[in-house]
Formats: sequence, C-alpha cells, structure tokens
Amino acid sequence: MAEFSERNLRDAMGRFATGVTVVTTMTPDGPLGMTVNSFASVSLDPPLVLWSPARKSARFPAFEAASHFAVHVLSRDQQDLAKAFALSGAEPFAGVEYTLGAGDSPLFSGCAARFECRHSAGHDGGDHLIVVGEVLHLERADKEPLLYYKGAFAGLENGGDDG
Ligand SMILES: Cc1cc2nc3c(=O)[nH]c(=O)nc-3n(C[C@H](O)[C@H](O)[C@H](O)COP(=O)(O)O)c2cc1C
Repeated sequence: MAEFSERNLRDAMGRFATGVTVVTTMTPDGPLGMTVNSFASVSLDPPLVLWSPARKSARFPAFEAASHFAVHVLSRDQQDLAKAFALSGAEPFAGVEYTLGAGDSPLFSGCAARFECRHSAGHDGGDHLIVVGEVLHLERADKEPLLYYKGAFAGLENGGDDG
C-alpha cells in the first residue's frame, strides 16, 4: 500500500480517467477561463453540476464571485485550448472566437458538450471550493472527447504514460 503524501494522492487520483473542460465566466476585467477536470454531474432534477476551483489560483476570486459560468467539455481536437487555458498569466481569449451566453459567460464552439450555468451554491472543499451550478442551457455534438489520465491528455485508444 502506498504511503500517504500529496504526490501519492495525485498519482492515485490520476488513475481516475476524466474528460477535460474549460470553465469560462465574464468578469469586470473581461472574459476569464480555466482548464478544469473536477467537473461532475450532480442532479438531474433540478439539473445541477459541480466543479472545484483551487483557492490558491489567481483566478479564484473571479470564479468565486461569478453569478454565471459556462462549462465546455472539450473535444479531442481541442487539446491546444486545454493547454492554453491551463497556463498562468496567459490571455487565451485573445486568440479564441467567442459569443456571450447566460450571464455574459464567453462561449466557444467545437466542443463535445457545453453547459451554461447559474452559480447556485458554494461548499467548502478544503483547498478548493465546490461550486454547484444550475444548468440553464446545454448543447452537445457528436465529437470524441479529450481525456485526461495519469497526468496527461489522451485519446480513447491510448492512455497517459507517466509511470
Ligand atoms: C487537465 C487539467 C485539469 C485541471 N483541473 C483543475 C481544476 O479542476 N481546478 C483547478 O482549480 N485547477 C485545475 N487545473 C489547473 C488550472 O487549469 C490552471 O493550470 C491553474 O489555475 C493555473 O494557476 P493560476 O490560476 O494561478 O494562473 C487543471 C489543469 C489541467 C491541465
């Protein structure tokens, strides 16, 4: 059995394959986005989803304050967006075409699915905040999803390989 440490916890969680999303919102300073794999469905009736921003993130105050946000479930050909929205200090929206959705959340296209949400609750999640959103509008497309596994982006046929 592995001894407990933050590294072992990360590595063990990395065995849980996830999709990859970009969560966006509109702030007084303009559009904001962040690559996120803590997204999950919560409830069908009412329609609720969750995601968890890290409290130490420079983007945290804006996401905590946001009344609305949009979750973009990335397709396999959107790995560049996943990387761009994970970079600190970058302004990925400069190179991304978007429209405005519910609560002015920026929306980009080409995703496998997209959820426009109203922030309905925030719950304590240790060094993260658990943000619950009510789904106001959704879109989906017949596209292969981008996956994240063992600390790396992956397609459906090949996993990440960080040992
Ligand atoms: C695949 C992937 C999933 C991520 N998921 C989350 C997440 O669920 N919550 C979070 O706060 N940050 C997550 N991050 C980190 C952010 O995308 C981003 O790298 C981080 O917020 C950068 O720090 P900054 O916000 O201080 O600039 C993830 C990064 C990657 C590559």
